[in-house]
Formats: sequence, C-alpha cells, structure tokens
Amino acid sequence: MVARIEPSILSADFVNFESEFATLKSADAIHVDVMDNHFVPNLTFGLPMVSRMQEITPVPLDVHLMIENSDDWAPKFAEIGVFSVTFHAETTDNPVALARRIRSIGARVGIAVKPNTGVESILDELVEFDQVLIMTVEPGFGGQALIEDTLAKVSQSRRRIDSEGLGVWLQVDGGVDENNISRLAELGADTFVAGSAVFRASDRTLQIEKLRALAEFGQGHRH
Ligand code: DX5
Ligand code: ZN
Repeated sequence: MVARIEPSILSADFVNFESEFATLKSADAIHVDVMDNHFVPNLTFGLPMVSRMQEITPVPLDVHLMIENSDDWAPKFAEIGVFSVTFHAETTDNPVALARRIRSIGARVGIAVKPNTGVESILDELVEFDQVLIMTVEPGFGGQALIEDTLAKVSQSRRRIDSEGLGVWLQVDGGVDENNISRLAELGADTFVAGSAVFRASDRTLQIEKLRALAEFGQGHRH
C-alpha cells in the first residue's frame, strides 16, 4: 500500500499560488478546495482560477468541491483536465450518475462526506468511485482539530474496499498532522490531505516526506 500526501492550498498565500505550488513538488497531488459560501460558510476560488492552476502545477490537482449544484459544476472541473474531482454526497440526488459523467470526461472521481453524513450508501456503490473522502473536520476552514468520531467511517470504508477487492483510494481531510497520520493510516486511510501541517513547516519538502514516512509506518501496523 502506498501513502499519498496532498497539501491543501487553502493554507497557501492566495496571491502567490505559482511560487507556493513550486514548494510542493514532492507532493503526490495538490488538494484544491473550492468553496461557494453556500454549502460551507467560506469562499475560495472558482473554475477560471483552478483552470489557470492546472496550467502551472508541477503535480496533479485533486479538486475538492464544497459547493451546491455539483451536478452542474463538477463536470466543468473535469473538463479542464484536473486529475480528480471530488463532490459531496450531500449535494446531489444521484451520485452515481454524476460520478459516471465525471469519469466519462476523463477525470478520476471522488465522493466526500461531512462528519455527520453516513458512508453506507456510498459503500454500496463503491465500484462507481475512484476515491472516498472522509471529512475529519466540518468542511470550510483549515487549521481545525480532527473529530475523533469520524474515524469509525475510515475503518468501515477500508473493510469494505478490501472485502470487495477494489483499489478505491481512501482519503482523509481535516486536522491531519504528524501526531495522528500514523493512526489514520493504521485505520486504513491511504491518501492524506494536510493544509496547515504542511504550510506551517519551514521546509515543506521535508515535512511532506516526514508525513509520508509516518503514514507508511501506520500502514505497516494495520489491524
Ligand atoms: C477543509 C478543507 C481542507 C483543509 C484542511 O474544509 O477541505 O482541505 O484545507 O486543512 P487542515 O489540514 O489545516 O485541517
Ligand atoms: Zn479539502
């Protein structure tokens, strides 16, 4: 199993994305948080800006949509050629249809759940998705503490992915840092979003390597 580290640019300097991206070359992907101030109480950037990011990024872009109307918007993000597009289960009546549209455009597709949303219905349709994102904080802001109650969904998802023999990536997002990443990996996560834990480090390359090593250590101790 591999451990993927994805810095979230929610913690970046928003007027210097190009130089910020250049510090993240050792990351497996850059996690791009799109917020609309409706689905979450915060606003970041939209399609034109992500489209420009796609032109200058040194590593694949993993777009996390925290927006309403994902049926309308998610395919548009796939069309600009990003690596993956994740929408929230809470924002569409037909996640499978939307996932199929995103895949048909050529992007990997992810489905995300807020801390209070169950993951069961997603696990029944796992084959339709390339990654499952378990939010470990309430979406909207970086720098929050991980909510312990969300971790049961990580182990539950891992059991199901493995029992079905699928290669679906299991992503965690929110409050991930050097103190908890091994435990998250032990529970079965393989893709780790880290905003503040990467951006606050003086040497981001070193910090990404450290987080990856800690995650791999945890994976070696899976229950
Ligand atoms: C929160 C976002 C996260 C956020 C994580 O709504 O989805 O990607 O940037 O930031 P940290 O790692 O600081 O909790
Ligand atoms: Zn995110």
